[in-house]
Amino acid sequence: MRVLGVNAIFHDPSAALVVDGRIVAAAEEERFSRRKHGKRPVAFSAWELPELAMHWCLKQAGLRPEELDAVAYSFDPALTKPADDLGLSDPWDHLRVTYAQNAPNFIATALPGLDRDAVRFVAHHVAHAASAALASPHRKSAVLVLDGRGERASHLAGRYTNGRLEILASQELPQSLGLLYESLTEHLGFLRSSDEYKVMALASYGQPRFLEELRELIRADGNGGFVAEPPDWSRWAPPRIDDGSWGGDHADLACSIQHRLEEVLVELAGWLYEQTGERVLTMAGGTALNCVANSRIWRETPFEEVWVQPAAGDAGTSLGAALQISADHNEPASMMPSAALGRSWSDDELAGWLRAAGVPFSTPDDLAGEVADKLAADGVIAWFDGRSEFGPRALGYRSLLAHPGRAENLERLNDVKGREQFRPVAPMVLLEHAADIFTGGPIPSPYMLFVHDVKPEWRQRIPAAVHVDGTARIQTVDPATQPRLGSTIEQFYRRTGLPVVINTSLNTAGRPMVDDPRDALELFGSAPVDLLVLGPHLVRRGGLFSAAT
Ligand SMILES: [Fe+2]
Repeated sequence: MRVLGVNAIFHDPSAALVVDGRIVAAAEEERFSRRKHGKRPVAFSAWELPELAMHWCLKQAGLRPEELDAVAYSFDPALTKPADDLGLSDPWDHLRVTYAQNAPNFIATALPGLDRDAVRFVAHHVAHAASAALASPHRKSAVLVLDGRGERASHLAGRYTNGRLEILASQELPQSLGLLYESLTEHLGFLRSSDEYKVMALASYGQPRFLEELRELIRADGNGGFVAEPPDWSRWAPPRIDDGSWGGDHADLACSIQHRLEEVLVELAGWLYEQTGERVLTMAGGTALNCVANSRIWRETPFEEVWVQPAAGDAGTSLGAALQISADHNEPASMMPSAALGRSWSDDELAGWLRAAGVPFSTPDDLAGEVADKLAADGVIAWFDGRSEFGPRALGYRSLLAHPGRAENLERLNDVKGREQFRPVAPMVLLEHAADIFTGGPIPSPYMLFVHDVKPEWRQRIPAAVHVDGTARIQTVDPATQPRLGSTIEQFYRRTGLPVVINTSLNTAGRPMVDDPRDALELFGSAPVDLLVLGPHLVRRGGLFSAAT
């Protein structure tokens, strides 16, 4: 069965293709359109489809639209209620519903040849849940979904057994931990439905001074649901203007809400464990991108294993919707092999891009050694290798890499990208060394979805990788699955004694992650990066600019 998944309804539009239960392709529209997050998260943009991502998915599999058995759309308008009945103040919400009802026509127009009756609606939170449970390595798990909103709820707690979902609890709107966090994001001067991770970063600079008051307002209800309506944030701190400063009451407020969110999530996950007794918890929904909360769930609940969908935000619902339709037709889902589900080019094609750009390059026998030399000499590396990542985290396919041993490299990488200085960068660590350096979170941790404590004896050795509170959001790298990156870090380790490099996404502020070779060359030309790795090829900054003179 050939199923194309489509997410278009709220934000982060994306497409994914599942063939006979196997994930063939998944990508966000922003990587093609070069517009961060694809579109604005407003009701009147709900008609816009991820057309470029949809067409690419079909091309990747060599399929024509009429060869699809189904298109799975990750929102079911039949489940909605009027915004007023949901306690939401969005005068345009009815447009969202109307557009969703008409999505089969929009999709059939975007994919000429497709029968509009092939379009199936999948409930938004079921799509999130499937993106976690069905893409994970586990056939059976408890599943927890929390986001801003779906059709009428903001949460789902349940259990998947061999592709079948049993829903145990869901929380109706307007109660929503995701909308609560989004509302604070806006109050703190950041972009709502986009910059929530900045609140998480800011939180570690504050003290939880307002925690007691927030415990009154935001709480689990003991039956799997919760109470969480956005309070008047001005009670604790005035609206923040994003002028580049951070700290004071704003950081304390971010810290307080972050703490409270963690406590409530731990309680909800604990309730789900009591109901199911499952060994494994799988999670998705935008809230599951909160790495600090994920680690607390891992540490403080009885679940032995916690698996989080790397594209936990709405982008992942295209994949989940497609997996769910396949599962409904008794096609067992194959686990997601990695997050590298996007575009890639052959070595020859990459060389062709470089020749077309008139860029001098080399294809060294010992690429790992040459890159490690440059990293050890404190160079910044633009790293482009293999299929691009699905989800918001750079995982060694489109990454910027640097030496973790120099504290100033945090500031330097943030400057390369032109972004706020309170934003941490993350360590990539060789899997076999991870437990020597990091503690307090799961290992392996291949998707940068958990926060670990850096052991005290390592904090001074890798200062650029350590957040202000002594933690790090790690990615473990297994050379067996990422050979080029793995051997580069191994070579760096031989030179420096550090089995760690620092990693941030390959983009500059406000732009989506680099996806194609042209994006990589444009970044390399506009940012102070020393070396560009394009598959097996190397471009040196000096070589590039001396050639131009
Ligand atoms: Fe969602």
